[in-house]
Amino acid sequence: MSYQSEYIASIDTPEAFWASKAAALPWYKPATQVLSKDENGIDRWFADGEMNTSYMALDAHVEAGNGGRTALIYDSPVTGQQQKYSYAEMRDWVAQFAGVLQNHGVEKGDRVVIYMPMIPEAAVAMLAVARLGAVHSVVFGGFAPNELAVRIDDATPKVIVSASCGIEVAKVIEYKPMLDKAIEFANHKPSATIVLQRPQANASMIAGRDFDWLEEMTKASAADPVSVKGTDPLYILYTSGTTGKPKGVVRDNGGHATALNYSMKAIYNVEAGDVFWAASDVGWVVGHSYIVYGPLLAGCTTVMYEGKPVKTPDAGAFWRVCAEHQVSVLFAAPTAFRAIKKEDPEGQEIGQYDLSKLHTIFMAGERLDPPTYYWAVEKTKKPVVDHWWQTETGWAICGNLMGVEPMPPKPGSATLPSPGFDVRVLDDSGNELPPGQQGNIAVKLPMPPSCLPTVWGDFNRFQEGYLSEFPGYYCSGDGGYKDDDGYVFIMGRTDDVINVAGHRLSTGEMEEIVADHPAVAECAVIGIHDELKGQEPIGLVLLKDGSDIDQETLQAELVAMVRRDIGAIACFKRALIAQRLPKTRSGKILRKLLRQIADGKDYSIPSTIDDPASITEIEALMTEHGMIQAK
Ligand code: COA
Ligand code: AMP
Repeated sequence: MSYQSEYIASIDTPEAFWASKAAALPWYKPATQVLSKDENGIDRWFADGEMNTSYMALDAHVEAGNGGRTALIYDSPVTGQQQKYSYAEMRDWVAQFAGVLQNHGVEKGDRVVIYMPMIPEAAVAMLAVARLGAVHSVVFGGFAPNELAVRIDDATPKVIVSASCGIEVAKVIEYKPMLDKAIEFANHKPSATIVLQRPQANASMIAGRDFDWLEEMTKASAADPVSVKGTDPLYILYTSGTTGKPKGVVRDNGGHATALNYSMKAIYNVEAGDVFWAASDVGWVVGHSYIVYGPLLAGCTTVMYEGKPVKTPDAGAFWRVCAEHQVSVLFAAPTAFRAIKKEDPEGQEIGQYDLSKLHTIFMAGERLDPPTYYWAVEKTKKPVVDHWWQTETGWAICGNLMGVEPMPPKPGSATLPSPGFDVRVLDDSGNELPPGQQGNIAVKLPMPPSCLPTVWGDFNRFQEGYLSEFPGYYCSGDGGYKDDDGYVFIMGRTDDVINVAGHRLSTGEMEEIVADHPAVAECAVIGIHDELKGQEPIGLVLLKDGSDIDQETLQAELVAMVRRDIGAIACFKRALIAQRLPKTRSGKILRKLLRQIADGKDYSIPSTIDDPASITEIEALMTEHGMIQAK
């Protein structure tokens, strides 16, 4: 099979292509409507198919005689624990926990928020929600109570599932007090929370509202999978957009299962029984797709790793896990590799482990910068594949299809479009640009299975945010170009979204927090280059007249505010007082210009600028503080 024939079939005859991929899964009733329009006029996959994702991921493998195969390996250097669970054990565990949720009134279509660290119970909770045909919304453990509250109000969950704590290297992070605060902040109140008590912290429970996971398990009986339609929602995952309010990306059941199952062989080249490790977190899309659903749908063994690339205990952590569990594919963020490289530049740790089973390393979450690419290839001697994707798609938009036809890699490029993604580069007026020219990366409709059909509870936001700018296309929010061979180079966001250590964050949201400080008149938060984390947010602040707060005090207060409202993962550590910021005559801060200055890029002075001297001033200030990247 060639990449070209596979790709062309997916674009020319999408219905036949995806129907054949869907046929690899155990549907209760296969769809007759492969591609149709929903009430909003959006393309939908497998609308009348009947299925259950949790059944496909667990029960079907047991029924096929593979119940003894390992489904999940929990490897937790932070607690010193390791545990393996077979498909049969996982199915029984999930069915029992689904019974717990049922006892608390969870039914098809209800939402359940999951706020948990990287422990198997997080995957169990997700699969149990899916088993009931309900909709989960996992919130990353690094988010502060305020962020959790915003998501609770938007998703209006019947139940919240959590744990007493997470562990960050050696630091115990108590989750329950944060959950309590979030419920206090939120207008919507769940009818129950189910909390797993971990030995590292004991959560205090509110009688009548909070229930102990283990006790509830003893009272429940196993629940059967509930049949849902292909287009019924499986989950909502909130992601950062340009405004302060996160967007609830909706994922449906049928398209998601089909695309993910297909991707396991086509992109990652793994088969049932292979060990697949995505070193991410269940709170991110990579964790949803490739710690939980993708590997299990394909009958692989997934690794759930509660640790870091470094410090748990050292820079050999990734190689230890790969060797010990016979990992075939490792999927990680470039920032993790930069962290390893920093501590073990010669890659000495790599040589300490038997990595003969590992055949490919995949990277995503941010652009795989060529120096990190070359280091990883040289030190591991494995193929290293960059692939580009978004929460919105749930799987790679571009990549190197290692299970179809591996292409020669080009460092800095995410290779070629995945089947079903008709990727185009458009100028600001929507005209297609020739090879080599940088523009907006868009995908010609229809999008393939798994991509979001709407933003939860806000179709207008979906339409305005993704479909209106270039009619007939999905606008990705990323910029880049294609070369003469069609290779796609993703160069960065065209909006205010930034990527810090593989975590997607909104500078708009940080600006709202900074602007709340009593001394701040106006501000801009932009992402600047960071050697380790890719980007780092910095604040540029104009003070209110008469305010005499000094730089250090203001910075400390702003850092504390962002940490309180978003969480430590925002990594907001620097804010500068500026005398002036470049603005248009109508008073709008020229953020794009600020970003270009910080990136050390050539820029043209916009004709709308109020005072060109403000550019020289801000450039001098940022240079003084080492905030401008060398050209
Ligand atoms: N729960 C609570 N707090 C968390 C957290 C979680 N799940 N994850 C991170 N944090 C906290 C950290 O403890 C840290 O807090 P601190 O400022 O008090 O020290 C802060 O958030 C920043 O964390 P992080 O960005 O992870 O920085 P780090 O310096 O601890 O680690 C790396 C750096 C590169 C090792 C780490 O960021 C990493 O492993 N990145 C890969 C991310 C990834 O896999 N992303 C998924 C994309 S596929
Ligand atoms: P998320 O939705 O958190 O997965 O973040 C998606 C964003 O991360 C994309 O819009 C890109 O800006 C960036 N991104 C993810 N993977 C890559 C990649 N391989 N190359 C370049 N940017 C990437």
